[in-house]
Amino acid sequence: MFLGLDLGTSGLRAVLANDGGTIIASSEGTYPVAHAHPGWSEQDPADWIAALNGCVAELRSSHPAEFAALKGIGVSGHMHGATCLDDSGDVIRPCILWNDTRSHAEAAALDAAPRVRDLSGNIVFPGFTAPKLVWMQKNEPENFARVAKVLLPAAYLNFYMTGRYFADMSDSAGTSWLDVGARDWSDVLLSASGMRRDQMPELVEGSEAGGTLRPELAADWGVSSDVAVVGGGGDNAVAACGVGTLREGDGFVSLGTSGVLLAAKDSFAPMPSSAVHTFCHAIPGTWYQMGVILAATDSLNWLSRNLGKGAADLSRDLGETISGPGDLRFLPYLSGERTPHNDSAIRGAFIGLDIGAGHAELTQAVMEGVSFALRDNLAALESTGTKLDRVLAIGGGSQSPYWVELLATLLNIQIDLPEAGDFGAALGAARLAICGATGAKPTDIMTAPAVAKTISPRADLVAAYQDAWQKYRASYSAIKAIQ
Ligand code: XUL
Repeated sequence: MFLGLDLGTSGLRAVLANDGGTIIASSEGTYPVAHAHPGWSEQDPADWIAALNGCVAELRSSHPAEFAALKGIGVSGHMHGATCLDDSGDVIRPCILWNDTRSHAEAAALDAAPRVRDLSGNIVFPGFTAPKLVWMQKNEPENFARVAKVLLPAAYLNFYMTGRYFADMSDSAGTSWLDVGARDWSDVLLSASGMRRDQMPELVEGSEAGGTLRPELAADWGVSSDVAVVGGGGDNAVAACGVGTLREGDGFVSLGTSGVLLAAKDSFAPMPSSAVHTFCHAIPGTWYQMGVILAATDSLNWLSRNLGKGAADLSRDLGETISGPGDLRFLPYLSGERTPHNDSAIRGAFIGLDIGAGHAELTQAVMEGVSFALRDNLAALESTGTKLDRVLAIGGGSQSPYWVELLATLLNIQIDLPEAGDFGAALGAARLAICGATGAKPTDIMTAPAVAKTISPRADLVAAYQDAWQKYRASYSAIKAIQ
């Protein structure tokens, strides 16, 4: 049996998978995000541990014999968070999360420093880890002076479970401290933000065992202390393991809180100027590229909150098929934007509001705006030479047939919808654990899900949506100029 843990922004999901990777049970726990000031986003790592132990207790009570036969654990984590520990392994301050933009000035300064983009393969985005430590150095010098280790959220769970400091390549690639091509910490990058190699965890591949359960924890959980904990990884890489997106040409579009268009890569081929992220994959010798937009279903949820009507109802009211772009334009920059703009200051807008606009027009505009932004991401990926002929759709938004047809038409590629059971990153984490504990080959274990349905672009509407996308593109600079 294997445990896959998906440490997400709003909660932790744990799945128990058998040796063949089939999920037999799952459990979830939630925890809050604190926003003490505008742009701040923090979590208490103790809440992650409480959620983990809660999920373990539930799985043990529902599946005692299976849980007792546990052989391996993998963790997927929300990326870029800075969990700072002192020399006793105690947490110094709340974890500063991926969507915290307080260190945007420090990020811009690091991004302009010599060799930083070349070595890290990426823009230093405001949410990345390195600028957070520069911010701490300036604003919380007494905390900064105590930092003995900086762990990403997944690596903090690895540490809690094993007592060892280790992190995988895919998550570490989002720190701006990793030489992403060489899959090693870079002393040049570390010193650019006043950090040292000894403050970093040991690097392992996501599918490689980094330690075994602490004997006390193994006793508490009623399992053997030989249980292997693998490197795990950053959520998008691990979700890619969950849906078999491993080789050049494989890709997925994720309509989650944030939106992601991801392409697996056989080699390291960065192009930071495109604002495409190029990170190590969670399996050896593989990388991936992705465009990230910060508010995908978050945009629809924002609308739903303000209209007082559920997002699923709003989406259902549009029907199942598209009929051409609306006149109302929505720019989904509610939390700033990463790809292609790298702009944490930009904010969203509705353009062209008509007196007759109601729920349906607003919903259509929001779904179109998010899809236009993902079309921008496809253009950014293509500018690096990456080609995607078809992608898998995952995430909550992919439940909407309207949204998926809209995306297929705008991206002008076929979109496969997996059969039910969207365990994404939790399944990927369990699969990494299977590889690390049994020596199985990732490509044998990390297969693609059965496809329930393939959605094709609407040939009759491709040109109309391309035209609308061109207008959308022009809106960014217009809005930027007046904000
Ligand atoms: C990726 C990113 C998000 C977070 C939270 O760069 O910031 O995917 O990992 O999901």
